Amino acid sequence: MGFGRGKVILLGEHAVVHGCPAIAVGIERGVTAKASLAERDLLRLAPWSLSIEPDSRGEEPLGRAFYEALSLYRGRPALEVSAEVELPAGAGLGCSAAIGVAVLDAIDEALGIERSRTDLAEAALNWEKVFHGNPSGIDNSMSAVGGVAVYRRGEPLVPLRSNKPLHLVVGYSGESSSTKEMVASVARQLENDPLRVNKAFEGIEVLVRNAKLAIEAGDHIALGQLLDLNPTILSSLMLCTSKLEEMGQAARRAGALGAKMTGAGGGGCMFALAPKRDEALRLREVLGQGAFVAEVSA
Ligand code: PMV
Repeated sequence: MGFGRGKVILLGEHAVVHGCPAIAVGIERGVTAKASLAERDLLRLAPWSLSIEPDSRGEEPLGRAFYEALSLYRGRPALEVSAEVELPAGAGLGCSAAIGVAVLDAIDEALGIERSRTDLAEAALNWEKVFHGNPSGIDNSMSAVGGVAVYRRGEPLVPLRSNKPLHLVVGYSGESSSTKEMVASVARQLENDPLRVNKAFEGIEVLVRNAKLAIEAGDHIALGQLLDLNPTILSSLMLCTSKLEEMGQAARRAGALGAKMTGAGGGGCMFALAPKRDEALRLREVLGQGAFVAEVSA
């Protein structure tokens, strides 16, 4: 079985596209896939009842991405890959990267190819480029490797160590968004107003640096405060929606140590940091339909 996990960006989304560090966690929820020899190449995606053929120039990004994935394997037989997706698409949890990692992992297994999880992440980058145009590489890296890590574009993941697990509660706003469009919007803002946007990135980088220390020290109160400082900066880049803000406020009122949107924004998911496991379960009720608990050990 191939597997690609979803991810939550604790701090640093968007700035990471432009070379700043970000901190992310891999979650247990993700995509599983199985590949088998077949008459012709086909990708099946169970929750959406989709059957996709590889297509180098088609309209459907999944067809183009599947073509990219298959072209990594020379002299291979025809393959049918069936994937089971447990993540909402366009929601900031790295769904497309998780599908790419799971598909490649499944094909490797079917063809008896041994590849490290780091090399698997690298191999999935071209898949991600089909969807996101200019991905930082954080989604495919976290999807393949997991854990809690600092990521900087073009550099290996730096795993963080802590003796205290992070109790996260992920809430879904019900609004989906396009990462490609949100990344393009920030790039336009950077071009038109470099002073303002670089200031925002600097602010985010300071939060990331301090959050790394807070995680390593197991100081989740400090981490929560740093998370709460991020939405203002993200709103200044026009990434937060009022629904995501409201969900963050509701989580804080219900005892979260901190909360913020995660991923591309403009909809999608937010998360809250809970002090303990039982409080995470209570926060899940507050965050409503589609919310789930993710416990992550660094
Ligand atoms: O929305 P997602 O899960 O695709 O996350 C995107 C994260 C960004 O920083 C906005 C883009 C990137 O490639 O790093």
